[in-house]
Amino acid sequence: MKPRILQQGSHPAYEALLVQEFDVHPLYKEIDPKAFLAQHGGEFVGLATTAKWGADEALMAALPNLQVISSFGVGYETIDLEAAKRRGIRVGYTPDVLTDCVADLAFALVLDVARGTPAADRFVRRGDWLKGNFPIMTRASGKKLGIVGLGRIGSAIARRAGGFDMTIRYHNRKPLEGSPFGYEASLVELARWADFLVVAAAGGAATRKLISREVLDALGPEGHLINIARGSVVDEAALVEALESKRIGGAGLDVFENEPQVPERLLALDNVVLLPHIASATRETRAAMANLAMDNLRSWFREGRLVTALV
Ligand code: 8YV
Repeated sequence: MKPRILQQGSHPAYEALLVQEFDVHPLYKEIDPKAFLAQHGGEFVGLATTAKWGADEALMAALPNLQVISSFGVGYETIDLEAAKRRGIRVGYTPDVLTDCVADLAFALVLDVARGTPAADRFVRRGDWLKGNFPIMTRASGKKLGIVGLGRIGSAIARRAGGFDMTIRYHNRKPLEGSPFGYEASLVELARWADFLVVAAAGGAATRKLISREVLDALGPEGHLINIARGSVVDEAALVEALESKRIGGAGLDVFENEPQVPERLLALDNVVLLPHIASATRETRAAMANLAMDNLRSWFREGRLVTALV
């Protein structure tokens, strides 16, 4: 008999593989998920989820025979790991396989905000080129790049920045042993120093609104903020104000506090590049994430171990 897996949230790449090997039930299709779980919760031994949907303790409690959670994504701030530990539930996720694509997109945003490529594209389409030249923008090569969160993704961004002859400094809670880059204990000082401040820190309570009004003011009118991490890491209201009043130069954002809701006021601004959380969204990377999320489930049910475990 195939293990019965509850699928929380829809993800086509993951779902297509899941149904080949497991008895999958999509919870997101239930009109009344609570009532469904009250009746069927005990049937499920696995939970397939994503970084967006996560798994809270109430869901775990509704699945009394749950052995394993396999999340499609690297972020896990939406998964209650302590509750999983207490309940003896193992948790897998998909690190590494998305690092390159997320770092690529961070760099696309660095170049976009510096050179104004999305605004320049709009300029050509509107026919404005026939009336005059596009404004002169800012150089990216050779500039100072501050990285908030030098983990796997932050390090991959730093490697790309090396190719653009950028100087790199970073802020983490603690200095990273053996890192060739300068550590800045104060985030405000890193922002003051940087031309481009890239947020690559994990989401969750510990980093909530880390990029505060004070940090934005330190970044200053020539500085640019890039966020490919989580919307929660930035004080979004302060960011909107800083962009409107040109207290910072611009921003490139792949993530938002309340996504898919993007603050209306951002839509009106030309000094901001807005993307719909697509950093890992390439066919290759999404396939690799789906494979790894599947491998975690497969190896749990076959061998009692996970390939990439959080808990
Ligand atoms: C995905 C992500 O968008 O891995 C993460 O933490 O935020 C992204 O890769 C997400 O997991 C897909 O829903």
